[in-house]
Amino acid sequence: MEKISILGTGYVGLVTGSCFAYLGHKVICLDINKEKIEKLKKGEIPIYEPQLDKIVALAEESDNIEFTTDYSYAIKNSDFIFIAVGTPSLPDGSADLSFVEDALKTIASYINENDFKIIVNKSTVPVGTGRWATKLLENELLKKGLKEPQKHFCVVSNPEFLREGKAVEDFMNPDRIVIGSDDKDIALKTASLYSTLNPPMIITNLPTAEMIKYASNAFLATKISFINEIANLSEKIGADIEIVSKGM
Ligand SMILES: NC(=O)c1ccc[n+]([C@@H]2O[C@H](COP(=O)([O-])OP(=O)(O)OC[C@H]3O[C@@H](n4cnc5c(N)ncnc54)[C@H](O)[C@@H]3O)[C@@H](O)[C@H]2O)c1
Repeated sequence: MEKISILGTGYVGLVTGSCFAYLGHKVICLDINKEKIEKLKKGEIPIYEPQLDKIVALAEESDNIEFTTDYSYAIKNSDFIFIAVGTPSLPDGSADLSFVEDALKTIASYINENDFKIIVNKSTVPVGTGRWATKLLENELLKKGLKEPQKHFCVVSNPEFLREGKAVEDFMNPDRIVIGSDDKDIALKTASLYSTLNPPMIITNLPTAEMIKYASNAFLATKISFINEIANLSEKIGADIEIVSKGM
């Protein structure tokens, strides 16, 4: 069982953290929002999601989950660091990566000479972010005097596909787990976090994993627009859209 930190205890972070803890990993859930963490420490779940309260309670009973705002503690006590912070859209439609950037810089500030951390991105980010993150971390570590920064971390992409309202069920019964890294051994090590779920695995490089997430979102949007058009047409010609979509 592995030591994991989850940065960002929102929808994705809380579900991922509590489900990993339920699977037996030692999990530290961190957020910069003190109020959220105080509530979680008292057993109050800030979002409604079927089964989540039970999973969190079971994880707490087994002493596998902690909630904190202390970055130093979280980074020191974990080998895997998951990033699950928000990436909202900016007015021009691009993703706001400032929360990811803040998280990366703070992680770097706590990586020391004898450390090796696997930094796994779960936030939805544009293709290329993993390699940008690698460069950013390298520069931050060089600035603090670590001469061979690449020896202290590896970046992994593990995009999230869960659906709100079915998030716990989706985590426990994944239709696929996608892991991307430019280091195959690290990708396999990350994949092993999920091994008890026995999911279909796609192990690939960083940009491919990132593209799978963006392409999946775009494909879903395309399918929704398409069926809406067919529904409009069906109404005009007296066809039953429910049966048309079932038949398709
Ligand atoms: N919600 C979904 O259904 C869903 C599904 C798939 C993917 N995603 C993606 O997952 C990511 C997270 O989404 P969410 O819905 O969980 O977001 P959220 O807004 O619910 O939670 C994000 C959390 O990150 C915290 N945070 C911000 N900056 C931080 C920092 N530097 N360090 C630590 N914590 C920090 C915030 O306080 C907040 O609690 C996004 O990229 C989103 O697109 C979401």
